[in-house]
Amino acid sequence: MKEKDEIARPDTPERALLDSLDPARLPRHVAIIMDGNGRWAKKRHLPRVEGHRAGIASVRSTVETAARLELEVLTLYAFSVENWKRPRLEVMTLMALLKEYLKKELATLLSHDIRFQVIGRMSGLDPSVQRALQEAIDATGKCRGMLFNVALNYSGRAEIADAARRLAAEVRSGALRLDEVDEAAIAARLYTSAVPDPDLLIRTSGELRVSNFLLWQIAYAEIHVTPVLWPDFRARDLVEAIAEFQRRERRYGGVLDEGPDPVEPADLPGSVRSAVGSR
Ligand code: FPP
Repeated sequence: MKEKDEIARPDTPERALLDSLDPARLPRHVAIIMDGNGRWAKKRHLPRVEGHRAGIASVRSTVETAARLELEVLTLYAFSVENWKRPRLEVMTLMALLKEYLKKELATLLSHDIRFQVIGRMSGLDPSVQRALQEAIDATGKCRGMLFNVALNYSGRAEIADAARRLAAEVRSGALRLDEVDEAAIAARLYTSAVPDPDLLIRTSGELRVSNFLLWQIAYAEIHVTPVLWPDFRARDLVEAIAEFQRRERRYGGVLDEGPDPVEPADLPGSVRSAVGSR
């Protein structure tokens, strides 16, 4: 974690929250479903796109705070494959905002040593958007600080289907044996192959859904849902989510209190043994 004064002023509630964080137990990867832009705008009798415009300040604050906390990876869900169903003006505004963000924020990304990447079917985006994204990817390619992933034209199911197709092709060509197709082989063919799975998934605006986001990768993620609408999300909300994450017990299907020796599979009744064996 960088100097705390860079993240929150002394003697503020944010600072007290920050002081409560254990720097040794920060999540390595935080993924966020940014939601509630439309509702934020509606509450103010503004067009929906104004909610997206206001959401850019939240992106800026979240990226900078995550970098200052020295998280390894931050992934933001900006545009799903399903979002193409939205009105054309809304889609065009989102793409324009993305380009504007990259243009204005590139210097900040570089100054924080942040590496920018895209996950999703980038080739399905408008060529001008692809160019802006590629420029940011290239310009930050040598940065060694936090990895900032933006999920664009992204679908978790499509990502898994793409990985399955690649595996099938590799098996057919003889590059891979069928018995080598295991969890690691699938993970290695996802967009996030070189990245640790998210430890913490945050969703704003109170909705209790995962919306086709990082379906494989969130298998053991802690989920934090906040009622805060995305345009209102700031550093304190990210720190609060991490503080709550640190209060949780992560068990990965096991138990924390080790107690007496674990039961040997041979001691279990047959039906239980086969169920345990498959987990
Ligand atoms: C969800 O709100 C938000 C989105 C679909 C888009 C988020 C995109 C941005 C904030 C801008 C670009 C991103 C970057 C990384 C620069 P919603 O419209 O579904 O809200 P609602 O559920 O209240 O209608």
